[in-house]
Amino acid sequence: MQALEMLFTRQTSRSFLPQKISGQELQTLLKAASAAPVGLGKFESVHLTVVENAELLAQITANTENKSGREQYPFYGAQTVIFIAAAPSARFKEIPMANACCIAENILLAATEQGLGSVIMLGFVPELKAKGDLLARLNLPQGMELQIAVAVGKIAEPLQERQITLDKISINYIR
Ligand SMILES: Cc1cc2nc3c(=O)[nH]c(=O)nc-3n(C[C@H](O)[C@H](O)[C@H](O)COP(=O)(O)O)c2cc1C
Repeated sequence: MQALEMLFTRQTSRSFLPQKISGQELQTLLKAASAAPVGLGKFESVHLTVVENAELLAQITANTENKSGREQYPFYGAQTVIFIAAAPSARFKEIPMANACCIAENILLAATEQGLGSVIMLGFVPELKAKGDLLARLNLPQGMELQIAVAVGKIAEPLQERQITLDKISINYIR
């Protein structure tokens, strides 16, 4: 897939098949994550936790209020969830989340390239962070704070490239 085709094909999936992704597919996602830009090049300030433990995903699901009305919220049946954590920055409070989102987008694109479905998720994070015992099961290194997560999985239908138009995001020009 060409890079722009991949960008225009990426879209959120909210229904995953029960099959796990392969080890090779996961490695490619993690390599893509590692290719993300990170503020000041401080790769030691970010951390990934790969959860493929069905029991833990079920526990988090059971402890998350589903206000969305969507089935199998928050992970939509995905068997692989990558939690992205980052250390607070003394200089810019925005850096941890910005880094996490750059990493997340790379994972989403690498999932698309491999024909996998993906979704970036923030909605459940505050609830999980408020539940110390459950959060502790992520085994985050000292000083790392959970920012956002990406679920990845097999999907029933291949993703189709979308027609993206320039009226989606408002733009002003100063020339
Ligand atoms: C910061 C951020 C947080 C998001 N949180 C969630 C979430 O908690 N649950 C969810 O199903 N989708 C979540 N999404 C996915 C968006 O709803 C989705 O990207 C948006 O509707 C555009 O659709 P598309 O990804 O198919 O282009 C999030 C997206 C972003 C960028």
